[in-house]
Amino acid sequence: MKKLVFICVSLLFVHCKEQAKTDLATEGNPVALYDEPFRPQFHFSPQANWMNDPNGLVYHEGLYHLFYQYYPDATVWGPMHWGHAVSTDLVHWEHKPIALFPDEKGFIFSGSAVVDKNNTSGFGKDGKVPLVAIYTYFRMDIEKTGGRNTQTQGIAYSLDNGDTWVKYADNPIIDNTTLKDFRDPKVFWHSETKRWIMALVAGDHAQFYASKNLKDWQLVSTFGKDQGAHGGVWECPDLFKLKVAGTDEEKWVLLISIGSGGPNGGSGTQYFVGDFDGTRFTADQTNYKWLDWGTDNYAGVTYNDSPDGKRIFIGWMSNWQYAVTTPTERWRSAMTVPRELSLHKNGDTYTLRNYPLPQLDSIIQKDTATNLTLAPNSEKSLFFEEGLQPSEIRFNTANTDFKMELSNEKGERIGIIFDGTSNLVILDRTHSGLKDFQPNFANTLQYMVLDDFGQEEQEVRVLLDNSSLELFVNGGQNVMTVQLFPTTAYTTLKFQNNSKTNLELKGFQKGSIASIW
Ligand code: FRU
Repeated sequence: MKKLVFICVSLLFVHCKEQAKTDLATEGNPVALYDEPFRPQFHFSPQANWMNDPNGLVYHEGLYHLFYQYYPDATVWGPMHWGHAVSTDLVHWEHKPIALFPDEKGFIFSGSAVVDKNNTSGFGKDGKVPLVAIYTYFRMDIEKTGGRNTQTQGIAYSLDNGDTWVKYADNPIIDNTTLKDFRDPKVFWHSETKRWIMALVAGDHAQFYASKNLKDWQLVSTFGKDQGAHGGVWECPDLFKLKVAGTDEEKWVLLISIGSGGPNGGSGTQYFVGDFDGTRFTADQTNYKWLDWGTDNYAGVTYNDSPDGKRIFIGWMSNWQYAVTTPTERWRSAMTVPRELSLHKNGDTYTLRNYPLPQLDSIIQKDTATNLTLAPNSEKSLFFEEGLQPSEIRFNTANTDFKMELSNEKGERIGIIFDGTSNLVILDRTHSGLKDFQPNFANTLQYMVLDDFGQEEQEVRVLLDNSSLELFVNGGQNVMTVQLFPTTAYTTLKFQNNSKTNLELKGFQKGSIASIW
């Protein structure tokens, strides 16, 4: 009997999933949902229309929430809402109705969410713990008339784990009369001082506010006017504490995104490692570092209250240089895979690594590992009839002078060149597929400076989806995330040994990745 019920429920589930996949397909577009050209298979993307930054990342009562900047009426940016999805494993996602709609106080820009366990806000009722969203209101009408006071901060709460939201009647909780850029509040509970801390950005610097109740906020310090990269306005801050791997030392990490001036043009995310005493953040190193060297990982922030104590990051897999013109029809853009952040010390230098969560392995069907050896100055091509998108490629190597190239029968290709002499990885997407939608999408090579790894052999791991590639070197110490739009799947993986010694690729594996949709 139990078995029968299980089979019926499973069949119903499969039926509902297929139904959801085809619902939108009947609306004048013959291609089923999540089967469209370029549609990511193991990354989160909205069913339809425009998405940018991840917002309100928080874990509560068994669910990882992913809110996101969303415009439900077109595939380009517009009046912002908070879209919503949830996951129990950070691999599969369930779409939820829109959480926050624009109102007379403005569009709903980026922000965060917290679990107010002690009901400091007073929003809780009948023992129900409130989930509180803290976001930026943006007044487009004021901007159009030349006003500068377009951005203020507001809050809303939910008593049913994110399904329905009530906006606070006395919004805005932080007003603004002078600043043009004043946004993206990231709030967390600072247990040492028993108060909420908000990191906010104000053009060329970050501001920190403190509050006992999430409603009344006091500015306590600022950071960054004369530190870090300033090629664009500062956006989407995040501040959190991490243990240095293998030690008991604790450091604070500040993430700051910049809309232009990233390492390979356009958007990018820098980080600072230092200390936060509950009031002030001080950076240890004057030079900032890039969280990701590729062009397509922006506005990333981390989860509050993740149950296993991990610091989990999700970024928006696009770049403001061309985000609104990428060649997808029904939806636009996707998120990176959720990644764990960890802090490592090598000599005097702290490095923040970002690396896919282990549970991603549950959808990767791995081949048996083999060792590949290429003689000096030789090439080896591997052909995969079923296509390489989506897939994972990984191996370990001590060699730093080689090239990997993924290509299809049309000659579209993406190259990843390890150049040990200059200590660089050079990523070439100039012939990767469609690229003319924006002149600067693929007109130059992308560079990544390799850190000192403090060891001989590196792990190289590539995650390839239908329109993205994520490269992780040495467990995420150096990372590149890029979009690409090949018109047919890559099928050939070629290695080229550019050195005078054998190229040993140890434990080489090509795994297929199952669709999460
Ligand atoms: C970053 C950003 C944020 C802003 C949001 C608007 O991509 O510009 O600063 O809140 O997008 O959609």
